[in-house]
Amino acid sequence: MLLMPRQPAAADAAPMPRIVSSHGRYELRVGGKPYLILGAQVNNSSNYPAMLPAVWPAIAQVHANTVAMPIAWEQIEPKEGEFDFSFLDLFLAQAREHGLHAVLLWFGTWKNGSPGYTPEWVKLDDRRFPRVVDPRGRRLPSLSPLAPATLDADRTAFIALMRHLKAVDPEHTVIMVQVENETGTYGSARDYSPRAQKLFEARVPRQLVRALGTHGGTWSQVFGSQADEFFHAWQIARFVQQVAAAGKAVYPLPMYVNAALRDPLHPGPPTTYESGGPTDDALGVWKAAAPAIDLIAPDIYLPDYARYTRVLALYHRPDNPLFVAETASRQRYARYLFATLGRQGIGFAPFGIDFTGYSNFPLGAPVIDARTLAPLALEYALVGPMGSVLADLSYHGDLAGVSEQSAVHVQTLPLGRWRAVVSYGLPAFGNAVPPGNPVAEGGVLIGRLGADEFLVAGVHARVAFELADSSGGLQAQYVRVEQGTYVAGVWKLTRVWNGDQVDWGLNFTSVPQVLHVRMGTY
Ligand code: DGJ
Repeated sequence: MLLMPRQPAAADAAPMPRIVSSHGRYELRVGGKPYLILGAQVNNSSNYPAMLPAVWPAIAQVHANTVAMPIAWEQIEPKEGEFDFSFLDLFLAQAREHGLHAVLLWFGTWKNGSPGYTPEWVKLDDRRFPRVVDPRGRRLPSLSPLAPATLDADRTAFIALMRHLKAVDPEHTVIMVQVENETGTYGSARDYSPRAQKLFEARVPRQLVRALGTHGGTWSQVFGSQADEFFHAWQIARFVQQVAAAGKAVYPLPMYVNAALRDPLHPGPPTTYESGGPTDDALGVWKAAAPAIDLIAPDIYLPDYARYTRVLALYHRPDNPLFVAETASRQRYARYLFATLGRQGIGFAPFGIDFTGYSNFPLGAPVIDARTLAPLALEYALVGPMGSVLADLSYHGDLAGVSEQSAVHVQTLPLGRWRAVVSYGLPAFGNAVPPGNPVAEGGVLIGRLGADEFLVAGVHARVAFELADSSGGLQAQYVRVEQGTYVAGVWKLTRVWNGDQVDWGLNFTSVPQVLHVRMGTY
């Protein structure tokens, strides 16, 4: 009999989704149980009833458990003070029919920095809802975070949304809300309007000085070359804080913001990326300004391993649960699910997953079809049935995960007395120098169930266990390797692997396979 992972605590009656933390680790609880978001975000304009029939088959195709759907300000408040939640109601009813949870994306004052999704009465009233002004006095397609009227109007709409959601969603189909979308401004480090300029020349608020443990002074004195960007980040984050806090006061779902990234390895000046958003350098400013935001999530459209995993490291912090809110739909991105979970991620959500016929190529795949979605579908099929088990292992620091790197074909995971050697591109039989997969697509998860017992799962990879220290003359052996599945958190044996299936290590292919492995010595 192999050891079982801890059983999650029993659920109480429809408890609120929430994020719990312990020892700098995080867990999302849905229905009182650990929950891993195996998400999929639809395309930007798929938030209309006529599009939903093209959404559900794609979500089902990838075996996602959570769909991320925009709710646009222009859609819910086309006339000021008159609200229409008919799309949301329909969407929730259909999501429930499909057995899915949902994340709502509030497309308000900022959508990729722009007011594109604000109602016309906002878009066309520059005096009431002023725009960011660049150093040359040009008005930019981005609303100033400093206008009280903009904050009031956005907050009012968001409160109405959360109030309606609370009334129509007692079963908590919606588990989390994204407040705004990729906030910030392209083309100027900050707002240079007279109102902004006056504040920029004043002292940095004490709250920020204290949170960062820095000395006081004006923005330039305290932050030097980062002053413009941090000033803008502070103003936007304070705006978002007030929107989120007001929404939570009505209905306290977990809330997060997503980030348009700067290059994590070679960032240029703030005018080369979206300034004022929660880029990696501005996370401290955002954390200080927006305590109502539970997490800051990166949108990762960087294909190379070094950049991708660097972003995971930057957003996985003791004060920030890691959630990949968006990533590209291209096949080669799917494997980063493993590295995300290995960094204690609470979820992963590729973008543009629907069959509306649109794809954000070349950022995403050329077409969204079954072939494009196959790698993600395989991984979600593998991970989905044991999401709660993995989330619990992760919360206790007992989950490791790696994704294949194009140029390095062997990775080693330390596991106490053992180590797992993960290699890519080998055939299932025999030993050779691992050549890597023709396209890097492998990945592995290893959960620690006990000192000598492991949950092992992966795709397109070989896992071999070795003694970390072989100097004592002992040799490693697989005592028992069970293949099975989790049904409602309980391990069910399918068969025992032996002979060819273990003689050359444990080979994972394009079939979802989960193993419980007990190691021993002779
Ligand atoms: C990131 C944004 O958050 C998404 O809404 C979308 O615009 C993608 N970029 C690009 O398709």
